[in-house]
Amino acid sequence: MDIILVEKKESLSNITLVAIEAALAAGELLRQGFGTNFSISSKEGRHNLVTEYDHKAEKLILDFISQNVPNSHFLAEESGFSGKDKGGICWIVDPLDGTVNFAHQIPTFAVSIAAQRQGKIISGVIFLPITHELFVAEIGKGAFLNGQEIRVSQVRSLEESILATGFPYDLAKNPFHCIDHFTDILKVGIPIRRMGAAAIDLAYTAAGRFEGFFEVELAPWDVAAGKLLVEEAGGKVTSWDNTLFDIHSRATIFASNGHIHNSVSAILNRTV
Ligand code: IPD
Ligand code: CA
Ligand code: CA
Repeated sequence: MDIILVEKKESLSNITLVAIEAALAAGELLRQGFGTNFSISSKEGRHNLVTEYDHKAEKLILDFISQNVPNSHFLAEESGFSGKDKGGICWIVDPLDGTVNFAHQIPTFAVSIAAQRQGKIISGVIFLPITHELFVAEIGKGAFLNGQEIRVSQVRSLEESILATGFPYDLAKNPFHCIDHFTDILKVGIPIRRMGAAAIDLAYTAAGRFEGFFEVELAPWDVAAGKLLVEEAGGKVTSWDNTLFDIHSRATIFASNGHIHNSVSAILNRTV
């Protein structure tokens, strides 16, 4: 495990290092559980699944962080808000992003942990346990994949781009006219991917694998770490109408390499 950290360890803050250790440990737990016979149930909506590993990984992360960083409080997907806000770090945690993949034995899932101080995300860590890819960002220090600095792609034209998207669990209600906007993007005729894990979509955008990623109704734990990764890698994250993106809004998000931002957001912002 340590091999992927050695190169950058000295320059990262203790907060980031704790997030990394928690993500690696939770990722290892998920890796061991992947493909085994675990319990699966539905949350709100038939397709919004939760497995025993979502809960196990979340407990591991919260326990580890509480023991290592005093005055921590949490916003985590399965347990909501916990701990007292004593002016310390608020940790925003998705213990298993891509639960539907995990439950269907599709090896595309991640642990996502962000640290927020005074309303600002200062560290973001996304770990993919199957491919063993550790994405780390720290405010003002850049973004890294397994210790190597990453930058967003330098592609400038939409025609040469590849985009990623995802769909909310209430897709049938067409929130934010997302089906219409998806169709508009399809008509551009470029490759579109649907990974099934927003944290991975954002990490891949930061690493230049995608030129951009758009979705609606994501929760703070889906996007907090990934937003910092994209920004620290030189990209841009906004709402579909190109205004400030608030991680708590559960509205629209568009993350990109910056170069294709205006052309895509013009399509996503079209009146339908
Ligand atoms: C989901 C994934 C998916 C996105 C959903 C999210 P979960 O998170 O990020 O890609 O489309 O909106 O809820 O439930 O697997 O943690
Ligand atoms: Ca998620
Ligand atoms: Ca989750």
